[in-house]
Amino acid sequence: METLPWEWYSSAEVLRLERERVFRGAWHYVGPAAKLEEPGSYLACPSGSAPLVCVRGRDGELRAFVNVCRHRGHEIAQGEGRRETLQCPYHAWTYDLDGTLRAAPRAGPGLDRSALSLLEGRAECWGPFVFANSDAEAPPLVDALGELPSLLARCGLDLDGLVFRERSDYALEANWKVAVENYLECYHCPVAHPDFSAVVDVDPARYLLERRDGLWSQLCERRDGEGIAGQFHLVWPALKVNVFPGVANLSIGPVWPVSPGRTAGFLDYFFGPEVSDEEAAELLALDEQVGREDAALVESVQRGVASGLVAAGTLLLPAEELLFDFQRKLATTLAAAPPVPSATLPG
Ligand code: FES
Ligand SMILES: [Fe+2]
Repeated sequence: METLPWEWYSSAEVLRLERERVFRGAWHYVGPAAKLEEPGSYLACPSGSAPLVCVRGRDGELRAFVNVCRHRGHEIAQGEGRRETLQCPYHAWTYDLDGTLRAAPRAGPGLDRSALSLLEGRAECWGPFVFANSDAEAPPLVDALGELPSLLARCGLDLDGLVFRERSDYALEANWKVAVENYLECYHCPVAHPDFSAVVDVDPARYLLERRDGLWSQLCERRDGEGIAGQFHLVWPALKVNVFPGVANLSIGPVWPVSPGRTAGFLDYFFGPEVSDEEAAELLALDEQVGREDAALVESVQRGVASGLVAAGTLLLPAEELLFDFQRKLATTLAAAPPVPSATLPG
């Protein structure tokens, strides 16, 4: 079975299409809901594909705005915090928590503030996780999550009881698809992740792959059989949701393209309240090690696929069936979406 053309992994034109047709209308994980409880609290979505900021209004509503100032385009908010208003750091245009433009220094009555509100998208929570979509008319988040909530319920994890512990940011010198595809198979685990494979049973008879439209899942258990079962999910297009087998834990976070050959991402780690610091530290250390091993793999793959000397690769089924299915969905999505009208330049 042939892979996607490797040209797609270093092409600026393919990335432009992916941004428009794959990432733009998607639901993006923003962060823990616990950070957005107080009125005025905000959390910017760090994904470069989705410049969004979620804000808790004085009325208690959670809203998502396109994090782009209506003046000259500076990002309104960075990171997280709590404010009375959202003030752009460039020229101090100031927006209310509901997105309306309140003040613009030196602007006279000629500036129609009512037409210059922040563009509003859509925000939704799933358990302790906040998501945002730049499209106010987007279908609800539950549609994008599909069977994920019921699959997670199977491993006996109390989602609402999970407590956020820390965020881990990373960057990779690889196309975003290389990073996602590496995540979608454990064919490489015995070879490349010996310590992970000593703890987790990676025998294909017990390491199960399940594919649904837009949701690809790997189900596993610890070799010693202790604790909850493990689940590693990819939600289309690039959200990872991991439950490591053992103690009550979940990590969630996206990867997104920075450029054709560069990808960024983060993982937010949550644990059950009963999990000790030592148990959490042990899991984080193993995950960090797997992350380091994967970074070396995907960066090497990127050098190979970007060399231009080989047109495409070969997939081995069934070990790589999730990856195959992801590639098929990507190709269909890029081909099927209507052409986006090109911007008209002012005359
Ligand atoms: S770009 Fe925001 S105030 Fe100028
Ligand atoms: Fe890996």
